[in-house]
Amino acid sequence: VGPVPDGTIVIIGGTSGIGRALAEAYAGRGRTVVVAGRDAARAQAVAGEIGGSTTGIAVDLARPADVADALAGTSGVQHLVLAAIDRDDNRAREFDLDGALRLVTMKLVGYTEAIHALLPRLTGDASILLFGGLAKDRPYPGSTTVTTVNGGIEGLVRTLATELAPIRVNALHPGIVGDSPAWAGKPPAVLEAVRARTPLGRLITMSEVAGAAAFLLENGAVNGVNLAVDGGWLLM
Ligand SMILES: NC(=O)c1ccc[n+]([C@@H]2O[C@H](COP(=O)([O-])OP(=O)(O)OC[C@H]3O[C@@H](n4cnc5c(N)ncnc54)[C@H](OP(=O)(O)O)[C@@H]3O)[C@@H](O)[C@H]2O)c1
Repeated sequence: VGPVPDGTIVIIGGTSGIGRALAEAYAGRGRTVVVAGRDAARAQAVAGEIGGSTTGIAVDLARPADVADALAGTSGVQHLVLAAIDRDDNRAREFDLDGALRLVTMKLVGYTEAIHALLPRLTGDASILLFGGLAKDRPYPGSTTVTTVNGGIEGLVRTLATELAPIRVNALHPGIVGDSPAWAGKPPAVLEAVRARTPLGRLITMSEVAGAAAFLLENGAVNGVNLAVDGGWLLM
C-alpha cells in the first residue's frame, strides 16, 4: 500500500485577494487547487494565471440553492476554504436591505451550504477554514452587516467543529491587510491610521495571512479556533 495521495484544495473566493494568494501558495507546492468565484470565465482565467494543477469554477454563494450543482464535479477535497466576500456599506439608520440580504446570505447560508454540498466528497483527514474579519470586534462606520456576519462566522466555527467532528473547522479573522485589493487603494490617511494602531509599525500582508491559513488547515491539533491575524492591532 503506497502513501495516500494529497487531496484537492478548494478555495471559494479564490479569484482575488487572500484566497488567490493562498491558491498561489498551494499551487506552488504542487498541489491540486480549485478556485471559485461568481463567474466561470474569470475563475478559469485566474486559474490559468496561477498555473500548475489549478482549475476555476463558478460558485455563487449568494444563490445557495444553486451551490450543490455548481460543486457537483468537485471531489477528493482535503482542504475547503471559504474566503468569499461581497462587502456592503450598511447602517441601521439608512438600511440597504438588498445589500444586507446578499451579504448575510452568501457569508452565512452560502458558506454552510458549500460545506453541506462537499461533505460527502471530503477526504478522511479533511479540514475546513472560514474567513471572518476583525470588524466583528472593531466596527467602523458602515460595517453593520460586515460586523454581523463576521460575528456569525465565530458561531459557525463552534457549531461545525462539534457537529462535523472529527473534521476540523477553524476561522481566520484578518485585520486590515495592506496589500489586499480591498485596501491597497484606500486613501493614505486611512491606511496610516491603521498602521499607527498596529504594534508592528506596518500593515499585515496577504502572504502572512495565507501562511496563517495554511497553519489552520494543516495542523492536526488545531480545531474550533477563531484566530485573529492582525499584527496586534486589537491591542491598541
Ligand atoms: N482584505 C482585508 O483586509 C480583509 C480584512 C478582514 C477580513 N477579510 C476577509 O478575508 C476574506 C478575503 O478577503 P479579500 O479582501 O482578500 O477578498 P477580495 O479580494 O475582496 O475577493 C473577494 C472574493 O470573493 C468572491 N466572491 C464575491 N462574491 C461572491 C459570491 N456571491 N459567491 C462566490 N464568491 C464570491 C470574489 O470572486 P468573484 O469576484 O470572481 O466572484 C473574490 O474571489 C473575506 O472573507 C474577507 O471578509 C479581509
